[in-house]
Amino acid sequence: MNYPIAISAESAEKFGQQVVSWYHQQGRKHFPWQQDKTPYRVWISEIMLQQTQVTTVIPYYQRFMASFPTITDLANADDDVVLHHWTGLGYYARARNLHKAAKIIVNDFSGHFPIEIEQVIALPGIGRSTAGAILSLSLKQHHPILDGNVKRVLARSYLVEGYNGLSKFDKALWLLSEQLTPSIETDSFNQAMMDLGATVCTRSKPSCELCPVEQSCLAKAGEQQMNFPQKKPKKKIPEKRTIMVIPRIQNERCDKVLMEKRPPVGIWGGLWCFHEVDELNEIDDLMASLSLKALSSQTLTEFRHTFSHFHLDITPVVVDCQQLDAVEINEPNQQKWYDLHQELSVGLAAATQKLLTLLSN
Ligand code: ADE
Repeated sequence: MNYPIAISAESAEKFGQQVVSWYHQQGRKHFPWQQDKTPYRVWISEIMLQQTQVTTVIPYYQRFMASFPTITDLANADDDVVLHHWTGLGYYARARNLHKAAKIIVNDFSGHFPIEIEQVIALPGIGRSTAGAILSLSLKQHHPILDGNVKRVLARSYLVEGYNGLSKFDKALWLLSEQLTPSIETDSFNQAMMDLGATVCTRSKPSCELCPVEQSCLAKAGEQQMNFPQKKPKKKIPEKRTIMVIPRIQNERCDKVLMEKRPPVGIWGGLWCFHEVDELNEIDDLMASLSLKALSSQTLTEFRHTFSHFHLDITPVVVDCQQLDAVEINEPNQQKWYDLHQELSVGLAAATQKLLTLLSN
């Protein structure tokens, strides 16, 4: 199909009506964020739902809203507490951006979520599609959206060649979404398009017989569903390695490990992790710098943690140690001894969580 694709007003209207009436009959309406649809509640759900399945999100969403019922509550919360609510969801930049944006909303908009799309897009962590989803779902404003699920529905319906992230593909799909999104019932249309992509027009097993736009779908007409969208060419992601050092003090009175809080930037920014070194022979210097005396050490089995852009092979080393007398840790907010038998209330990187579970069993 050549770009850009022009759709007649008549067929756009028909597409919109078919999708909206499907939503009324089949769409999902009972998720927690679909009750009392304020911009704040919808915003949090849209951020959690990025790259994460609905069933995983539900308990996180409920805990988050119970702890931070308003934007001001979120803005005033300690960053450790916000990140703790994200432990296990991954992509922690999402939580850091939510927290930053809440502070901006309190400062610049007196704690009220902005209602102009340009102001919403200007907030950290909110792109054009998420802004459109928030304002259409909560306030019924007329904005198109284009998340990964919607892209698949549109690419198949109109045989748009390319893959997610390819700029001419994304541009062509935005033009389609703009033309197809109706100005009435925009909220039902947008929610329906996301639901269709998630439940009917799925990547590997589309249920075309359940689709309200099957009759006009160009991919279906030529049995080409599996070729749209195309797969993104795979880049081989680099492999990195690290040694995580776990100083441990274990006696009749305690069983604790030393952790450090990462600076706010980078993959684990603001999360609590173990100290890292590149080589085993650096551990002695590290222990000395922490005023600890190593008694013995044990290297645990290496494991791999994969991020979107690299693999990290982690070798954990537990160092049983003693604290040298009366030496204070320099920055108590950045370093803490954690009791292995007590639940932590701070944000933990997935790899840290895994090690703590291993050590406390
Ligand atoms: N993914 C992103 N936003 C969503 C929503 N509102 N409903 C279902 N899945 C989604």
